[in-house]
Amino acid sequence: MTLEVVGKVDDRIVDFFKKMEQVEESDSSQLVLSDSFEQSRSLQLVFKEDTAQLYDQGKLIASFKWASEYYQAIWAFAKAYSDRDGMRSALTSTKWARRVVSGILQAMVVLMEVEDKTGFSHSQRVTKLAEKLGLKLGFSQKELQLLVEASMLHDVGKIGIEQLMMYTPTRIRFLEDMPRDHTVMGSIYLSTIEFLWDLVPAVRSHHERWDGKGYPDGLKGEEIPLLARIIAICDYYDELTHFVTSEWGIGPKKKDEALKMVQDQSEKMFDPRLVELFVKIVESDQGI
Ligand SMILES: [Fe+2]
Ligand SMILES: [Fe+2]
Repeated sequence: MTLEVVGKVDDRIVDFFKKMEQVEESDSSQLVLSDSFEQSRSLQLVFKEDTAQLYDQGKLIASFKWASEYYQAIWAFAKAYSDRDGMRSALTSTKWARRVVSGILQAMVVLMEVEDKTGFSHSQRVTKLAEKLGLKLGFSQKELQLLVEASMLHDVGKIGIEQLMMYTPTRIRFLEDMPRDHTVMGSIYLSTIEFLWDLVPAVRSHHERWDGKGYPDGLKGEEIPLLARIIAICDYYDELTHFVTSEWGIGPKKKDEALKMVQDQSEKMFDPRLVELFVKIVESDQGI
């Protein structure tokens, strides 16, 4: 993989990249980062005023605002994205620490969320559904493990946002658009923990839509990481069938009605292949 950074680059980004990889500076406004893991892929970061855009083989895969603030998230996204096809770097090798930190974060998410009658919270329910979908897709044990973690942490960016919005009239103000910003905040939180970087793409992209009208990056179709596409369906179904929908004034839906709504969103919000599998799983499972 070659990562190129073109344009005016914030010093903090340069410093950070220098620490992470071997950097060759061709001139003051252009950086080329070489990564020996994979030669065939090419990732490019282009900086324009207040955004940084990440391209994979010339195709836009993510766009970051306030680039100078989020340099770590950009880097984590780039690394995690380029590693997503199974190329795991040493970043994820610290198994024990990873389990502990991920476990603490997951516990925080559960604490933040309201439980249902059976004692499960939103992210736990989403995880149970996602795991069934992963099994149906023939995921390996390792892939399932990653899916479970990403599902448990998909809304981790919601932690603290409301409080910060209420009490801080300064820089966090630009995060007022909370429903959108929890995806960005989640990727920033996770980007601060190096051995959880491979969760960044799924968490960042779980509100992207198959038709490209989602957020935060407007990714389309298979540009959206597979784990994010899985989580998106389970997330929507859980919101429809549980208390969250009461906030929308329509009340929780029954299974049949919710499945119909999921099907209606095939090729709009969701990957049609996954919708088909999901409907089969839920229809045949009395426990859901
Ligand atoms: Fe979410
Ligand atoms: Fe969610």
